[in-house]
Amino acid sequence: MGLDLFVKKLVYGGYGLGEDKGKKFFIRYAAPKELVEVEVLKEKKDYTEAVVKTVKIGSQWRRTPPCKYYTHCGGCQWQHIEYQEQLRAKADILLESLERIGKIKLDSVNGILGSKEEFGYRTRVQFKIREGHLGFFAWGSGELVPIEECLLAHPRINQLIPSLKETARLIKELQEVHVFYSPHEDEFLLKLITISPMETQKLRKLKEHILPKEVVGLGNYTLLGGRFIKRAVVGREFTFVRSGRFILRVSNDSFFQVNHTLYEDFPKLVAEGEKVKRILELHSGVGFFSFWLSEHCEFLFGSDANQSAVKDAIYNAKLNQVSNVSFAHEKAIDTLKNHAGEVIDLLVLDPPREGLSEGEAKLIVQNKPKRIIYISCNPTTLARDLKVLTSGGYKIEGVHLVDNFPQTYHIESVVKITI
Ligand SMILES: C[S@@+](CC[C@H](N)C(=O)[O-])C[C@H]1O[C@@H](n2cnc3c(N)ncnc32)[C@H](O)[C@@H]1O
Repeated sequence: MGLDLFVKKLVYGGYGLGEDKGKKFFIRYAAPKELVEVEVLKEKKDYTEAVVKTVKIGSQWRRTPPCKYYTHCGGCQWQHIEYQEQLRAKADILLESLERIGKIKLDSVNGILGSKEEFGYRTRVQFKIREGHLGFFAWGSGELVPIEECLLAHPRINQLIPSLKETARLIKELQEVHVFYSPHEDEFLLKLITISPMETQKLRKLKEHILPKEVVGLGNYTLLGGRFIKRAVVGREFTFVRSGRFILRVSNDSFFQVNHTLYEDFPKLVAEGEKVKRILELHSGVGFFSFWLSEHCEFLFGSDANQSAVKDAIYNAKLNQVSNVSFAHEKAIDTLKNHAGEVIDLLVLDPPREGLSEGEAKLIVQNKPKRIIYISCNPTTLARDLKVLTSGGYKIEGVHLVDNFPQTYHIESVVKITI
């Protein structure tokens, strides 16, 4: 017999939170304020992981998930919840993380920038391939769920799937296909991840005979020590994406944001209201925020550890005739060391999910920039880093939730900080 639980709220990781006899339950596919019968999946030291078996009294925000793979495929966690409630829950989780981990108590977020579209927003998708089948992994496992379409992906990416399946059928060693789509150029860049390197000739044949002409570039990569090693390339290595009045070159090896519906509003939100002399931007990528910020300062210096992204950023400055910026291929820690002792009016950070290293956070406090904008895709590491910054005398000016990832638990935010 199952166990009946009341779902108090949604929590980070995509679960609903329930409790029984003082024990916490993290429940998959639960919605807030409902009564569900659950099946226990895993007993852990501090909590039990469970899944909804039957909804006894449904949440007012529960809806029928539109995707036929939902609950089999692990890509989405919250399709069964109304979008406005997803946004509200994300804002609450963000505030709770700041309080619990960062010891920062705020009454509310200053604003929520929702995705303009709930579905079809993703321009970057990483398909998994197993034994010639294409799909995504199930929740918390390496088991492949074959799919014919993904409702989060841009519709043009879905149109590409038959040719990707044919590629998977032909290339036995294929493990993953990473797709990047430019909605402005209507063209694709692909990365094929294989166990051992592919011959360039084979890659060329795929491009010419199997893939549509809109696939303008194709790279082969193998995985070594957790890093992708480029083995062969055919066609173009970059495409162009528009962000408001800026055109950005994005190479296959550079990072780029996934949600095309926010390509203008997100950087606009970051730059809004700023008026400073000198900006130092770490993790600047291809310049997604830099060019918007350049209109609010006398000079911006950006850096990134990815050489491909820095080359794109330098190219993009010329392309868009922005002359008050410069970019360097540098690790964040080195940029902070190199600029120690300088007056920095505004420091902009957008680290990967791991957040800042201890050394980086300490150096920021020592360098004492007058203001900081911290863009984060992980509320847990954000809260940890903000604890260091606030202990060093900084105060939170404002927090915005930016929903780059509808239907999933992922949380992007922008925090403005002052000394
Ligand atoms: C979340 S992305 C943001 C990029 C850019 N701000 C954007 O919005 O397109 C994080 C960036 O941090 C860079 N990065 C990762 N580790 C780094 C490090 N230790 N030092 C500097 N940059 C790093 C990555 O290359 C990547 O471009």
